[in-house]
Amino acid sequence: MSDSQLKALPTSDEDIQGRIAFKGEILREAIRQGALSDTQLVAGFIDVASVRRTIASLIDAFPAHFEHTFAAKANAMSQSLAVIRKQGLGCEVASAGELRQALDVGFTPEKIVYDEPAKTIDVLKFALQSGISFNIDNFQELDRVLSLANNIKPKSRIGFRINPQVGSGRIGAMSTATSTSKFGVALKDAGNREKLINCYQTHSWLTSIHTHIGSQGCAIELMVAGIRVVVDLAKEINQAIGRQQISVIDIGGGLPVNFDSEEIAPTFSDYAGALRDSIPELFSGEFTIKTEFGRSIYAKNGFIATRVEYTKQSGGRPIAITHAGAQTATRTAFMPDLWAIRLSVFDSLGVEKRGTLVEQDVAGPCCFAGDMLAVNRPLPRIEPGDYVMLHDTGAYYFSNPFFYNNLPAIGVFGATSNDTGGVVLDVWRKQQSLEDVLAVIG
Ligand SMILES: Cc1ncc(COP(=O)(O)O)c(C=O)c1O
Repeated sequence: MSDSQLKALPTSDEDIQGRIAFKGEILREAIRQGALSDTQLVAGFIDVASVRRTIASLIDAFPAHFEHTFAAKANAMSQSLAVIRKQGLGCEVASAGELRQALDVGFTPEKIVYDEPAKTIDVLKFALQSGISFNIDNFQELDRVLSLANNIKPKSRIGFRINPQVGSGRIGAMSTATSTSKFGVALKDAGNREKLINCYQTHSWLTSIHTHIGSQGCAIELMVAGIRVVVDLAKEINQAIGRQQISVIDIGGGLPVNFDSEEIAPTFSDYAGALRDSIPELFSGEFTIKTEFGRSIYAKNGFIATRVEYTKQSGGRPIAITHAGAQTATRTAFMPDLWAIRLSVFDSLGVEKRGTLVEQDVAGPCCFAGDMLAVNRPLPRIEPGDYVMLHDTGAYYFSNPFFYNNLPAIGVFGATSNDTGGVVLDVWRKQQSLEDVLAVIG
């Protein structure tokens, strides 16, 4: 099937069952090939066709004047970005490393938007010279851009990142539109609105405006409220200038992901509907609209599987010791209440266990007590040699290697089906060898 024929991500029970079944097939193939074994202890997997269907559902949900980019921070492996590029999306980058990766993967400068809050002179100069769009975080950065002004190419879309200060979502660390957030120009702070209008009036090359309300934990209503504020600001600026100088509104990413079940909720269509209801200007075609989704594209299309090394009892409670902990499930280990993930248990051949549920702890390999994947979680009885699957870990779980205890960054495989329905595993990232790890540790 060609990419363009891919249907948007299905949501019926039958389709969900299909996705669950494919995860089991991937796991069994990994065990069969030795990609998981008593020496290959942990690995990550991406269901490539499902990523493509997710992208198709994104494109379907919005009109053609929406230009979608993928936030590379969510999954920055070159193969992950290559899938995105082949589906026609652009790439949002937030560091020199992500920018380099995007260019190496073949994104052309006009398909890249650069959002780092701490942009250095060198990277700014490079962005200006190559025509890469970027969002200015603060007035000092504007001064820096002005000092490089001779290099500004008209094809760079440049604008300010705005913090509409509409409040926090459920996870403070993910909320970028609080009154004191480190990101963007704080719109409600005294004098900033006037100063922004003045900057746009003075510099006709400021043609875009950007906001990203926040990521996981922010309700759609909060995201919509923040974008509404920024669209109103864009219209006010254009009115003050007397023409439509701002022609691009970048509404960021942030669609939350459901970590409680296989269901895709909210969907891109849900979000598009809420935006259409409250901000019809986004759909009128008067502005080009950019998006920067990350987690909602990759999270549910990837999982980690880890071998169980030992099981024991402590204080009367069963504990399974595995090889996936803070080195890959970093947020889950450090903020377990905010980043709880679903776990499933499979036997040593990859058959899912469905026995009586027993409350158990599932631990990682790191040498600190909080290195836990779950505490007191009802799961089928786990035994040594079993595999534990960490669901919905396709975004932000491969880009957070944590080198405590000199543990390697895990290997990751892209999984596809061949003509006969068998699973094909491609190495997207080799697990680090001990030599690699020691070279990084120094
Ligand atoms: C500027 C910007 N855009 C997009 C994203 C992607 O957010 P998400 O992965 O929640 O879609 C982030 C995430 O931190 C971000 O900071």
